[in-house]
Amino acid sequence: AGTGPLAGLKALVTSGPTHEPIDPVRYIANRSSGKQGHAIAAALARLGAETLLISGPVNLPDPLGVSTKHVETAREMLAACEAALPADIAVCAAAVADWRVDNEAGQKIKKEKGGLPQLSFTENPDILATLSKLNHSRPRLVIGFAAETENVIEHASAKRERKGCDWIVANDVSVDETGGGVMGGEENTIHLIRAEGREDWPRMAKSAAAEKLARAIAQHFSLSDEG
Ligand code: C5P
Repeated sequence: AGTGPLAGLKALVTSGPTHEPIDPVRYIANRSSGKQGHAIAAALARLGAETLLISGPVNLPDPLGVSTKHVETAREMLAACEAALPADIAVCAAAVADWRVDNEAGQKIKKEKGGLPQLSFTENPDILATLSKLNHSRPRLVIGFAAETENVIEHASAKRERKGCDWIVANDVSVDETGGGVMGGEENTIHLIRAEGREDWPRMAKSAAAEKLARAIAQHFSLSDEG
């Protein structure tokens, strides 16, 4: 068992993109690097939480002190989350694909057949909303992310209500002055949105943002345990 302010608590973190297959060799993905989610899992473990990281395909090492489960699709990610319950803390940092191909081909689609493949899509399960709306096994603190390119605060606050999570970590993913973006980058500018109000954090390294979020979580549990 770990020591630290989160000792005795179990945390679940999703991170990275998902890959949604088109056929056995092709998939649909997105630009998430997993850096922020992986850093959060590591920070929670450092504060003593028993941490399970459920990661989509990323080019990152498994963080130290964390159990990591690797998945590819949104459906696998949801199943892994459900299998990990009960948990005290859930942080959904993964960039889950909104849609998957519902006419996935069992064999490689051949160009030689002529014509163009016709993909048809269906909606993926929303992992954050699913965890937030559980009755008996809902984690005590459910945290979602909102990557927005405009009206960051308004959109993120609306998302908190819609998804039913407790906190939203909002960030602006529009391309910055230097032409670099948050996705794949090393830094992040976060607004932490809770029922009580919002905190605007300065731009900082993703590792520092992870540390600050883990400390806010520890603070939340120390207050809620006193009451
Ligand atoms: O709706 P949107 O994708 O912008 O919401 C982002 C938040 O919802 C993130 O916390 C993300 O991890 C979570 N999410 C999820 N499952 C989905 C879509 C988003 O857990 N299918």
